[in-house]
Amino acid sequence: MACLDSFNRSISYLRVSVTDRCNLRCVYCMPPEGVPWVPHENILRYEEIVRVVRVGAEMGITKVRLTGGEPLVRAGIASLVAMIAAIPGVDDLAMTTNGILLAQYADELAKAGLHRVNVSLDTLRPERFRAITRLGSLEDVERGLVAARAAGLEPVKVNTVLMRGVNDDEVVDFARRTLQEPFHVRFIEEMPVGIAAATRFLPVAEARERIEAAFGPLEAAHHRMGNGPASYYRIPGARGTIGFISAVSEHFCHQCNRLRLTADGRLRPCLLSDAEIPLREALRSGVSDEELKQIILAAVAAKPDGHHLGEGVAVSGRGMSQIGG
Ligand code: 5AD
Ligand code: SF4
Repeated sequence: MACLDSFNRSISYLRVSVTDRCNLRCVYCMPPEGVPWVPHENILRYEEIVRVVRVGAEMGITKVRLTGGEPLVRAGIASLVAMIAAIPGVDDLAMTTNGILLAQYADELAKAGLHRVNVSLDTLRPERFRAITRLGSLEDVERGLVAARAAGLEPVKVNTVLMRGVNDDEVVDFARRTLQEPFHVRFIEEMPVGIAAATRFLPVAEARERIEAAFGPLEAAHHRMGNGPASYYRIPGARGTIGFISAVSEHFCHQCNRLRLTADGRLRPCLLSDAEIPLREALRSGVSDEELKQIILAAVAAKPDGHHLGEGVAVSGRGMSQIGG
């Protein structure tokens, strides 16, 4: 059963933020001192998350992604993976992580039923990694990438947020990594969410130009698990791929298939609109599955046709770690 929104888009993808906490403080996401964490009692328990996913799956959700904050800092995360993997109808279960704890958890996650991971990585230079994330070590992420591939969490995709004057001089280095290893990099335009700075904005078209100037024309590549907003390419003969997510410069809202569940139990119809539909209170007051479906349908019906970032509209409210990027 497919679930259609007001603009006839089929909603099949649920992004679940399992925590707003993080072991990094990336410059575009958090201030150095961090943000006040949501108190524990306001965070959905695993059984509550599982119930929402199960009911969602009955409504046509087939794809689930766990995000944060940083999902691997939440205790027992592999047990949540196992519970979601067991839900009939969920045929794609993925996670977005900053990779710091991935080497430690990759095997356990794969055994629990996680299919694949996306790893956020904005630089390949150790000192710069520390400057961007304020707390992390690049070496941990590199070990995480190796461990994830070894555990079969493939394709391992790398998400790279483009920032002019911060990492734009590494676009060609990232592309070079795809030549010899199964490195699947996706360049993402920085969206004006939370504390992100529009002054650093670099359109993906410019990244592509720089790569083609260095390696020649890219060829189209189809990703085994590419059903989102990225377009994929390859340097002819390369093992890895290069994707571009033009979140700001080109709308892909017309093909948006997703709904978000925040760590504190609110349904968010659109990343770039602050509208949210509360769910936690209902979950904790004995709501029936049928009533839960009605709330989910209300969130689907509240999906806007698209965002208006191109027109200089910024999103003011919660930051990415609080929504789940
Ligand atoms: N614009 C684009 N991507 C962002 N992320 C965090 N903040 C932003 C932003 N303002 C990314 C992270 C991670 C994913 C969850 O979201 O780098 O890859
Ligand atoms: Fe943590 Fe991701 Fe935010 Fe970086 S971008 S601080 S890794 S939640």
